[in-house]
Amino acid sequence: MNILGIETSCDETAAAVVKNGREVFSNVVMSSLKQHRKYGGIIPEIASRHQLELINAVAGQALSEARMRLKDIHAIAVTTHPGLIGSLLVGISFARALAFAARKTLIEVDHIKAHLYANFLTFPSGRAKTNGSSMPKLPAIGLVVSGGHSSLFLIKHFRDIQLLGQTRDDAAGEAFDKVARLLGLGYPGGPIIDRLAKSGQNNEIHFTCAELPGTNDFSFSGIKTAVLYYKNKHSHAKNFNLNNIAYAFQNSVVNSLVTKSIGLCRKKGIKTLLVGGGVAANSALREQLMERSKQDGIKVFFPKVSLCLDNAAMIAGLGYQMIKGHKSN
Ligand code: KG4
Ligand code: ZN
Repeated sequence: MNILGIETSCDETAAAVVKNGREVFSNVVMSSLKQHRKYGGIIPEIASRHQLELINAVAGQALSEARMRLKDIHAIAVTTHPGLIGSLLVGISFARALAFAARKTLIEVDHIKAHLYANFLTFPSGRAKTNGSSMPKLPAIGLVVSGGHSSLFLIKHFRDIQLLGQTRDDAAGEAFDKVARLLGLGYPGGPIIDRLAKSGQNNEIHFTCAELPGTNDFSFSGIKTAVLYYKNKHSHAKNFNLNNIAYAFQNSVVNSLVTKSIGLCRKKGIKTLLVGGGVAANSALREQLMERSKQDGIKVFFPKVSLCLDNAAMIAGLGYQMIKGHKSN
């Protein structure tokens, strides 16, 4: 079964064709990121106007790269939530109109859960694009870390995904973006801080994230303020070093994410951890999770970097599982 996925929840206009929830035949992502950079964040009105102009061409490109026509598509999956309302509206209206005109089933997909599904996607060669050697096995704990969310889930199967914890304030990606902004580093902050931290070192700078003991929740707003105070106090000092600040900040955020995720796997006796969302591209998060999961025999999966970021292949993939589950009931 071939599913056309449509995703327009933030700055991206994306469409993809995925066969049987696994094989990615095409995955087209256009972003309006450049137009937002000078504002230091996403401007919803610019994003949705861009999406309105692009959506038709992007969907057409996804079909042609998959060497398919609309008649080869069995259903259309679209992100319905969460996201910027104007942006979502563009994708939903397009997908609904297309499904109505071409008489296809329309599947409504949750963007956050789809980030976790990215771990199950392969390419036509059948090779899994995950860090693990094989397909992840359920049940699993899911960690979604993106610009808008930092959440922990229990995934029993694709239609039974329970939220067990989340951030009480900023999302992890939001903290990366805000810290980069206050340090004058540009937008989006995650990849920039990731790069700078590689040349940073474990020095006398220490930032901490609130631990919120006894919960599966996170908090990333205090650390942002701590970085701001540090900058205000030390920016004229001789040893003021952005690499070291990036290192200390990233280390603390990653430590909080790793500790809570592995702690939850232990608590639930689950040996599979699926990670997804833009921050899953972070190199320190990948390294520390792989390292610290070994002791408990937990197998950690990450999608390849392009599938960590917003894309429509994950929407088509989860859409297939939803329609399949529904049809077999
Ligand atoms: O999942 P995503 O593409 O969009 C949302 O659904 O939010 O995530 C975007 C977020 C941004 O906050 C960006 O700074 C962060 O992911 N990000 C990273 C890295 N690459 C992207 N954060 C840390 N390290 C990275 N390498
Ligand atoms: Zn996302």
